[in-house]
Amino acid sequence: MYVNWPVELNMQGLEKSEIQYRQERVGDDFLVTELVKRVFGPGRYVLTTSRLREHNTHVQQLGWIGELAGKLVGTVRFSPILIGVKPALLLGPLAIDPSAHNQGCGLGLLLHGIDGARDAGHGLIILVGDAPYYARAGFAPVAAGTIEFPGPVDPGRLLYVGLRPGVLDKIHGMVRPQVFDKI
Ligand SMILES: CC(C)(COP(=O)(O)OP(=O)(O)OC[C@H]1O[C@@H](n2cnc3c(N)ncnc32)[C@H](O)[C@@H]1OP(=O)(O)O)[C@@H](O)C(=O)NCCC(=O)NCCS
Repeated sequence: MYVNWPVELNMQGLEKSEIQYRQERVGDDFLVTELVKRVFGPGRYVLTTSRLREHNTHVQQLGWIGELAGKLVGTVRFSPILIGVKPALLLGPLAIDPSAHNQGCGLGLLLHGIDGARDAGHGLIILVGDAPYYARAGFAPVAAGTIEFPGPVDPGRLLYVGLRPGVLDKIHGMVRPQVFDKI
């Protein structure tokens, strides 16, 4: 039984920062893409998670933006995936402009994103990232051998947050973009 349920989203304190949070809009796409390019550079193309996103679409209603003095400085997006036959969300990219680092923007976007996904009825979010950072938003390591990727992924960086009790207990298998099922 996985133990990170219920996920506690401590949103108190977010309003103390200068960062303003809002849901992503269609018109944000250009600036979000530029921000992600700037933050991750060309190395992003070789990441297994980026390649999964290339063949997928993000769920626009679940995307969040961070703004500082009216400028877009942060983004988080979620893509629909299947793990085996069960639906889940893949979180990423999470990118904050260096000019806005260490002001809580990354954590704020994670908390808003998780909250929105839970409200929309999603049960599970996974990501590949730095465990000490994502633990701040309730992410915990996935047990070895549970989830496979169609490319190299450091198992120690595979993290999840469950939005329903015991959701990961029933999930195992290969990750693929959900959109493939609709072709
Ligand atoms: C990682 C990233 C999203 C953090 O965004 P941020 O808005 O600066 O972070 P927050 O303000 O929410 O949190 C800052 C805290 O997290 C810590 N932190 C930042 N990156 C970290 C990491 N990779 N691992 C552990 N802790 C980290 C900071 O040291 C700081 O700690 P403190 O509160 O004890 O001073 C941002 O630096 C970024 O976009 N990095 C490049 C892209 C990237 O690596 N994205 C995915 C992360 S795996």
